[in-house]
Amino acid sequence: MKYTIATIPGDGVGPEVTAAAVKVLEKVGTVYGHEFAFVAAAAGGCAIDEFGTPLPDRTLEVCRASDAVFLGAVGGPRWDRLEGDLRPESGLLKLRKSLGLYANIRPSFLHEALKDACPLKPEIAGPGIDICIVRELAGGIYFGERGRRVGPMGEEAFDTECYSRTEAERIARVAFRLAEKRRKKVTSVDKANVLQSSRLWRDAVAGTAAEFPGVELGHMYVDNAAMQLIRDPRQFDVIVTTNMFGDILSDESSTLAGSIGMLPSASLGDSPPGLYEPVHGSAPEIAARDVANPLAAILSAAMMLRYSLGRESEAAAVDRAVEAVLARGSRTADIQTPGGRLVGTREMTRQVLEEISAGGGGS
Ligand code: IPM
Ligand code: MG
Repeated sequence: MKYTIATIPGDGVGPEVTAAAVKVLEKVGTVYGHEFAFVAAAAGGCAIDEFGTPLPDRTLEVCRASDAVFLGAVGGPRWDRLEGDLRPESGLLKLRKSLGLYANIRPSFLHEALKDACPLKPEIAGPGIDICIVRELAGGIYFGERGRRVGPMGEEAFDTECYSRTEAERIARVAFRLAEKRRKKVTSVDKANVLQSSRLWRDAVAGTAAEFPGVELGHMYVDNAAMQLIRDPRQFDVIVTTNMFGDILSDESSTLAGSIGMLPSASLGDSPPGLYEPVHGSAPEIAARDVANPLAAILSAAMMLRYSLGRESEAAAVDRAVEAVLARGSRTADIQTPGGRLVGTREMTRQVLEEISAGGGGS
């Protein structure tokens, strides 16, 4: 098969980890007989510098003409003083919104080989932290009415959380379908004891549950969920939540997997292309030093193979290659523990490629 992939390297460590993902896809192409055409496009801070906007029109066109999009990371201190709409992050938000990507899937999986990198006590982490956060990505306070004005206490600013029943139902369905293929448990996280929007959310998610009789649904307030994630993470299978709560809880749950440098993500809508990005962000302080962990990007490429290209066995081969490299004891700085062999971005990637070759193909 031939696939067209838009790549948006972005800022900070984005270009290095994107290069790693591209190499992995090329290797998969060689081993399994697929052809990948990569089309690079700009977004984020580098697009501001070059084109004066964090999301040039051409980038959107390139994405729309592709089977899937890979994004490294956007943002950095250089652009932090810009106004709202001109910031690198707003380019990413506009990209998600324009492509209709409302479902953000963020798995947090503690590899056996990385259990020493997990900050929880072994008796709590135990075998198998395996949580999947399904974050609503196209609505809520990220996109609600906002502004500045003068109020009774002088200058003020506001952002609004607003959810329609339809938005809550469609993301709930994504979560239920995912749970059907996993341990059949969904926890919906909200703040229904305080927020109107959460009460509608809870009602909508509960209403959708009837369509998925094989899946157990629970509800949890977000403050409790933040606590339960570190107190007893193994109680969770799939967590479905709003854009903002999902942003926060996915960073929290990422640390359970040893490092945010391990966390991939997929952003999906009702039609292609899906967008794949590591959760870690641009990490400007370690950029261009060959120390960033490429595994989140590589695992994001595996999610692309699985969700957008329908290549499950290729995706599984990439997952296995990552597992094998970790089992060898190779570690980037963020996941280094006593006894690990410290490697850089490029060497880690090279070892993954080697494992994919060794894994064969032919299926
Ligand atoms: C994420 C990031 C983004 C978000 C930022 C960069 C806009 O934190 O993908 O989690 O808040 O969605
Ligand atoms: Mg975030």
